[in-house]
Amino acid sequence: MEGMNKIMGKTILAFAASNSSASINRQLVTYAASLLHGADVETLDIHDFEMPIYRHDREEADGIPQQAHDFLARIARVDALLISFAEHNGSYSAAFKNLFDWCSRVGREVWGNKPMVLLSTSPGPGAAARVLGIAESAAPHFGGNVIGSLAVPKFFESFDSETGLLVDSELDQQLRELVAKL
Ligand SMILES: Cc1cc2nc3c(=O)[nH]c(=O)nc-3n(C[C@H](O)[C@H](O)[C@H](O)COP(=O)(O)O)c2cc1C
Repeated sequence: MEGMNKIMGKTILAFAASNSSASINRQLVTYAASLLHGADVETLDIHDFEMPIYRHDREEADGIPQQAHDFLARIARVDALLISFAEHNGSYSAAFKNLFDWCSRVGREVWGNKPMVLLSTSPGPGAAARVLGIAESAAPHFGGNVIGSLAVPKFFESFDSETGLLVDSELDQQLRELVAKL
């Protein structure tokens, strides 16, 4: 209850660090956001912030694309962040990494000193924890105040896409306790 009182009246930005229209990380973050009773939840699709691949020469010639400024503005106006990271080949999706790289050229504090809860899920057993480790260790260097993280392995066993619910009860309890800290 104490945790839920903290959430009341806050605005949380919840999104998946994936550009897939069928993103399992979006399904997970949508469920996690539904647990934020009393908060105003904003969402975004990083595909709407797609930019050319970062290139020094491009920045020199044309500056930083407007999408990077727009994404940072979405972060600036909220109280906290809830993000679920897709894992591609041991790391971030290229779509998220490119967005992040452009944003970091505006300023190093991409996460705006906001409290953050970091999630990740993948179909296999280990990939989610891998990218989560990367995101969690990097965040403090970019103005991120990580208050907790949770990997949901084996998405298609742990999560029911039809109901949109986390069916692994142990992970569900951990997720509820985690988002209450926001
Ligand atoms: C380029 C690429 C690389 C991937 N690499 C891995 C991997 O190393 N391990 C793994 O378990 N899954 C891997 N996957 C599967 C992703 O975890 C899966 O596509 C997942 O749905 C991505 O999250 P999303 O649906 O939120 O985008 C990869 C997928 C792609 C497209």
